[in-house]
Amino acid sequence: MFRDDFVWGVGTSSYQFEGDRDDVPRGLCIWDTYIEENKARTSGHDAKVACDHIHKYKEDYALMKELGIKNYRFSINWCRILPNGTGEVDMKGVELYRDMIKSMKENGIEPYVTLYHWELPQALEDKGGWLNPEIVNWFSEYAAVVSQYFSDIAKYFFTINEPQCVVGLGYVNGGKAPGKKLPMKDTFQIAHNLLKAHGAAVIALRGHAKQDIKVGYAPTCTVAVPVTDDPKDVEAARKKYFAMEYNPGNWAWNVSWFSDPVILGHYPEQGMEVYKDYLPEITDEDMKLICQPLDFLGQNIYHGYFIKADENGNPVDVPYYPGFPETGVNWPVLPRALYYGMKFAYERYKLPIIVTENGMANTDVISLDGKVHDPQRINYLDRYLSELQKAYDEGIDIKGYFLWSFTDNFEWEQGYHGRFGIVYIDFNDLRRIPKDSAYWYKEIMESNGAKLAINNGMKL
Ligand code: BGC
Repeated sequence: MFRDDFVWGVGTSSYQFEGDRDDVPRGLCIWDTYIEENKARTSGHDAKVACDHIHKYKEDYALMKELGIKNYRFSINWCRILPNGTGEVDMKGVELYRDMIKSMKENGIEPYVTLYHWELPQALEDKGGWLNPEIVNWFSEYAAVVSQYFSDIAKYFFTINEPQCVVGLGYVNGGKAPGKKLPMKDTFQIAHNLLKAHGAAVIALRGHAKQDIKVGYAPTCTVAVPVTDDPKDVEAARKKYFAMEYNPGNWAWNVSWFSDPVILGHYPEQGMEVYKDYLPEITDEDMKLICQPLDFLGQNIYHGYFIKADENGNPVDVPYYPGFPETGVNWPVLPRALYYGMKFAYERYKLPIIVTENGMANTDVISLDGKVHDPQRINYLDRYLSELQKAYDEGIDIKGYFLWSFTDNFEWEQGYHGRFGIVYIDFNDLRRIPKDSAYWYKEIMESNGAKLAINNGMKL
C-alpha cells in the first residue's frame, strides 16, 4: 500500500482540454498553425472547442471533487498570458487562470502547474522558435510572469513536458507542431537551447516566488524492460535505457540526453561521442545554467520494450510475441515498464519521482445503460499501479502518480481519436460521463491502493 502522503491525481494540458473563449482572446500558438496546415492529417479536427473546459471549469473541478481527485496537473497556455510570447501581459488571461486555480482550491484540489505542454507562441516560432538562442530569455520571462502571478496560490511547478517530443517530433521527424524536419545540427542546437531554457525557467520561477515553491521537470521515454528479472537481463536493460546509439531519424527519443545534463550536470559521454559532428557550442556556463537543483523528477511512462543480455552481457531486443496486449492506439501494454522506469531513473538520478503521466487510450463507447464501461483501462491501471507499488515498497522515493487523463481530449495530430480519459466526453454535446475506471480510481485513491491486485494476492 502507498502511505498517506502519497499524491494521487489526474492530468490534462491546456491545448488539449481548454478550447477557446471569445471574451478572452489569446495569441496564436504553433498548434493552431499546424492544424490549419495539416487538416488531412488531423481528420479536420481542431481544438477550438476541445472539451470546452474554458467555459466549464467550475463544473469540471466539482466533478473532480465528486470523484475524489485531490491533485491536478494542468498546463498554462503561454499565448494566453503573453500573446506575443514576450512583452505585454494579458491580464484577462492571468485572471482566467487565477480564477481556475482558486476554483480548484475551493474544491480541495491542489494545482500542479506545467509551464510548457507544447504551446509555443507562433510569434516566437516566427523568430526561429526553439532554434533561436533567445528562447532562453523568452522562456525565462514567461516563467517569471507565471511565478509572479500564480505562485501565491500554486506551489508545485513543472517546466517542460516531454522535451523528447518537443525536439524529436517537433523538429526531427515533424510528427507534431511545428512539423519541421531540420538538419541534425539544428536539432541538437534546439535541444541545447531547450535545456538552457529549462534551467533559466527554474531560476525565474524561484526568483519570483511568493512562497516556498517546488519545481520539477517532466521528461518521458519508452522503458527498456528486462525480459526476465535475471540480473544479467536487468543490467542489459539498464544499459540500453540510458544508451545513445546513432539513430539520426529519432535521436531525441532517449532518456540521458534530456536528464543527465539537467540532474547530473553533463551530457552523456556516449551521446557526445556518437553525435560529435552535430553538437553546438557547449560551455561550462551553459551546463551550470542547465543543472539547477530540482525538488522532484517527473516521469511520463506509458510503455516499454523487452531487452535480454547476450552471452557478453550486451543488450539485445526481444520482439513482442504475436498478439501482445495493446491499447486503443496500438501502444503495447507492458506494466513492468513502470516498475523498471522508476527503478532505473531513481538509481541514476536519485531524485524523488512523480509519475507525471500514465494511462491508456481505449475505444470507449456509451453503453445502452448510459454508462461507459472500460474494463481494459481498469485492468491496465491495476497492473501498472501494482508494479508502481512494487518499486515503492522497495524504497524508491515515489511521491505521486498523475493519471493521464482526467477526460478524453484533443489528442494532438490524431484529432479526437484515442480516448485517454477516465471521464468520457461526448464531443457532440460536451457531456461528461465518468467511466467505470473513474469510480475504480476513486476507491484506489481513497484506500491508498488497498484494492490493487498486488495487495490482494493476485499474480501480476
Ligand atoms: C503527452 C500528452 C498526450 C499523451 C497521449 C503524452 O505524450 O504529454 O499530451 O495526450 O501522451 O498521447
